[in-house]
Amino acid sequence: MMSNATVHKVTAHVLPVLPYAEAALDPVISARTMGFHYGKHHKGYVDNLNKLVEGTAYAGQTLETVIGETAGLADKTAIFNNASQAWNHTFFWKSLSPRGGGEPPDALKTKIEASFGSLDACKKELAAAATTQFGSGWAWLVQDGDKLKVVKTGNADSPLTKGQKPLLTIDVWEHAYYLDYQNRRADYVAAVLDKLINWSFAAENLG
Ligand SMILES: [Fe+2]
Repeated sequence: MMSNATVHKVTAHVLPVLPYAEAALDPVISARTMGFHYGKHHKGYVDNLNKLVEGTAYAGQTLETVIGETAGLADKTAIFNNASQAWNHTFFWKSLSPRGGGEPPDALKTKIEASFGSLDACKKELAAAATTQFGSGWAWLVQDGDKLKVVKTGNADSPLTKGQKPLLTIDVWEHAYYLDYQNRRADYVAAVLDKLINWSFAAENLG
């Protein structure tokens, strides 16, 4: 028979392993930023979520289920925020690659051109969403039906709760760039889009 401690361990959310070394995105995103962003902020969301759901109906549920069931519920804001931030960060790490930037795979490029006119127009819209999001939040490329769209969400919010399929995201919370860029969010966003954005990951997410 399993002890309670074992059961808890099996059902707890875990901080996923980064898909690259903490220094791999340097100099666009420094190892120091990654150390805090992944090791403190992302880990904090996962740890907080585990504490918040322990002994509740949400214990043992996937992040997607917890996000879907707590979105918009005023008395579940803390659970939603930590679950959604845990999901968003895992998705953000995959949206970046040390070999990112450049051209998307053909299937994605065709869809981008159909929805935005050109890759450049899509990147400009992503940059505009990322720089104009007031305060903390996220810029996303999403699939909405047959069309691709750029959207932005505030704080922990996610396109998942709006029926949109995320393809990639850019974290524009200050903790994502302040150590490297201070207040220059636009410079951080431009460097991410040119050097790190993982179009192959976005292509894999196409439905
Ligand atoms: Fe973040």
